[in-house]
Amino acid sequence: MPTLPLPAHGAAWTDLRQRMAEAASGDLDWRSGRATRNAWVASPQVHHVAEEAFRLFQWDNGLYPSSFPSLKRFQEEAVAITAGLLGGAADSAGTLTTGGTESNFQACVAAREKARREGRVPAGRVPRIVAPRTAHPSFDKAAWYLGMEVARVPVGEIGRADPAAMARAVDDATVMLVGSAPCWPYGCVDPIEDIAAVAAARGLWMHVDSCVGGFTLPFIRKLGREVPPFDLSVPGVDSMSADLHKYGFAAKGASVVLFRDEARKALTRFTFDDWPTGSYATEVFNGTRTGGAISAAWAVLHHLGEDGYLKLTGRMLSAFDKIKAAVDAIPSLGIFGRPHAAVLPVVGRGIDVFAVAEAMEARGWTVSRCKEPPIIHLLLNPLHADIADRYVDDLRAAVADVAAKSGAARSREVSYAG
Ligand SMILES: Cc1ncc(COP(=O)(O)O)c(C=O)c1O
Repeated sequence: MPTLPLPAHGAAWTDLRQRMAEAASGDLDWRSGRATRNAWVASPQVHHVAEEAFRLFQWDNGLYPSSFPSLKRFQEEAVAITAGLLGGAADSAGTLTTGGTESNFQACVAAREKARREGRVPAGRVPRIVAPRTAHPSFDKAAWYLGMEVARVPVGEIGRADPAAMARAVDDATVMLVGSAPCWPYGCVDPIEDIAAVAAARGLWMHVDSCVGGFTLPFIRKLGREVPPFDLSVPGVDSMSADLHKYGFAAKGASVVLFRDEARKALTRFTFDDWPTGSYATEVFNGTRTGGAISAAWAVLHHLGEDGYLKLTGRMLSAFDKIKAAVDAIPSLGIFGRPHAAVLPVVGRGIDVFAVAEAMEARGWTVSRCKEPPIIHLLLNPLHADIADRYVDDLRAAVADVAAKSGAARSREVSYAG
């Protein structure tokens, strides 16, 4: 990397702001609703609340609860609210982390620590996590840091984890099973009850990754739709992750890792005092962190309340339903599996779905793809409710374009052959 000189003289903020705005000109335009990836968007009003709340505490340090009792309280209340939404009992516990990766990481720390204390892992082996193939890479990342390994197990036909196959993959070094609610690639909720039963029968840690679903599934269920059991109310589930900065609509840097009880959470507590300053203790990976993400998460939870989340979830579902119905009605497209929430995986039936993706991009949409199988991966937000009709019109036109082009290519092939 070529080094850069520190500018010899400071620049005015107006100049910097201008330069930064220019730098952002190629960034994802999530505000328009024409992006169906990488963003969780509630409304300008919610963003305003998050920004104001963030600003109030952004210079305060979440590392020091005794110096900032306000942040301690905000964290505890945000965690308690999350536990209430996700089947936590009165003795459940949790931690506010900086994101889904860190929440999953802390669950892996707890599982590994429990196994270590129980002397579970045979000599010469490393603690093993058994996860569906669809689990988020944060488990492999955690395993890489923590000296663990991950066995990824093929999922069933409709993309849900296969508990029997996972049970077969358990060996004597296995310490943890994982299920997703929902999984990122296909938006479906894994059979959490069955995976948890496998874990409980063998005394293994069971973690539910509900980073995407933690703040949608409870509201989808309240809106009257069927959602399979997925949370701490399922016997055998030891921990869960739920991201405030996804469908909790908080500012970036906020997620919750929940534990069935305080004893399980205590497994993540790092304490140290063998240095001149004395005691240092944390329950998260990082040290210093902005209080802004904590205060914004607390404020957004309280600003939206249950009725706010229900309304936003209803808007997201209206986009989901509209696009799903349109896809179902296009013979050359289909929905992969049975998505429960937020993610809509669109496959081609006799059509190259990535060619459709390109045709959508040509119409100004930002499209995400999944490779196994080839999928247009739609991540839906409340703001897509306003734009779903346009998406559907463009999708029909894109499919017609691709079909016309491949029809023309086929007839050229036929005429060459002739
Ligand atoms: C299912 C799932 N788990 C975990 C994560 C990681 O979350 P983060 O990017 O906040 O670390 C994601 C991110 O999309 C996810 O979809």
